[in-house]
Amino acid sequence: MELANRIHRIQPSATLEMTAKAAELRLKGVEVFNMSVGEPDFNTPSNIINAAIEAMNSGHTRYTPGGGTTMLKQAIQKKLIRDNKLNYNLDEIIVSSGGKHSLYNACQALFQKDDEVIIFSPYWVSFPDFVSVTGATPVFVNTDSNKQYEPIFKELESKITKNTKGIIINSPSNPTGGVWSDEAILRTIEIAESKSLWVFSDECYEQLTYDIPFKSTYQICPDYDRILTFQSCSKTYAMTGWRIGYTCGNKDVIKAMSKLQGQSTSCPNSIAQFAAGEALLGDQSSVQTMKSAFRIRRDLIVDRLNSMDGVSCDVPGGAFYVFPDISNLINRNVYGKIIKSALDLCLILLESKSVVSVAGNSFGADNNIRFSYATSEDIINKAMDRLEEVILDCN
Ligand SMILES: Cc1ncc(COP(=O)(O)O)c(C=O)c1O
Repeated sequence: MELANRIHRIQPSATLEMTAKAAELRLKGVEVFNMSVGEPDFNTPSNIINAAIEAMNSGHTRYTPGGGTTMLKQAIQKKLIRDNKLNYNLDEIIVSSGGKHSLYNACQALFQKDDEVIIFSPYWVSFPDFVSVTGATPVFVNTDSNKQYEPIFKELESKITKNTKGIIINSPSNPTGGVWSDEAILRTIEIAESKSLWVFSDECYEQLTYDIPFKSTYQICPDYDRILTFQSCSKTYAMTGWRIGYTCGNKDVIKAMSKLQGQSTSCPNSIAQFAAGEALLGDQSSVQTMKSAFRIRRDLIVDRLNSMDGVSCDVPGGAFYVFPDISNLINRNVYGKIIKSALDLCLILLESKSVVSVAGNSFGADNNIRFSYATSEDIINKAMDRLEEVILDCN
């Protein structure tokens, strides 16, 4: 079958593949320790669920404007003032079917063949594909694992060419959990501004920082008007399945995204939009409850990892991922296999111990493994016990 070229430019999502593998094992009756999931293990808070029920009962079950209801955009406006000290007009806001959809649409609206887009490595699996599918080229810039994966600025400057059109920032980061300092963001924006680049600030983990308060990129650099802010209800409110994300920024870009959306998905789900309004403006206590649980789990998993021979894990400032380096285990032998990369160790963990993780090669880091700690302390401890067993069996 002759599929269009754009399909060959993209890869299946590695994280979703691992989640599917975990489900397969579970179906076979195997007890699985799933450390691969990129979503909170909490249920959506009941006030949000009740808002959805009310939406259905009161007839909010029809198409909405393509870029989202005015009611939800007003809620987003209020949320951005309350949490991020950001002021946006209604025509500078678009609601999409999740943050992923927002980022995809923005790439479609701005990038094309011959453009280059800077992505910081390790990167979220989807960024290169969002860029590649437009025909543009992702250009990777390394980061410093000892400094919350902030950019190596010399490299950033050297990778910008006359074709560079955009930069994607993601702090707190998936997969590293790194949270950039205000200085790092400021310096990145200064570089972007000197070349008039579009800056995507993916802030979907904005409520999950444990050591320093979160600051939105546009809050740090309010004078640069080529910053697009991306946020989402998914991680903050345990609403991954509801599919509501939003983008704020330049109104022409927002209009272009809206046109694209109108001709593809029509509009985000009407019931989920209603529920998102409650999420953003209703009782926020569940956000703090989840955050406190994540913080305890972060400290637990970092301690466990750093107590293992050959594993080194920096303390990530946010999100719900750790990204330990296992390079000291490379070339060691376990269960008759040689560990040649983090992927080999992930597969050994999966096959011999039913622990599901995601190898760093999917994120541009061959010697790291991503463990999500959006799961119970019990599962974290059991998964870490099993990793420790594998390491103790290494020769
Ligand atoms: C860095 C990052 N950005 C965006 C998203 C998109 O989330 P959603 O589409 O559920 O809003 C994710 C989800 O895993 C993510 O990790």
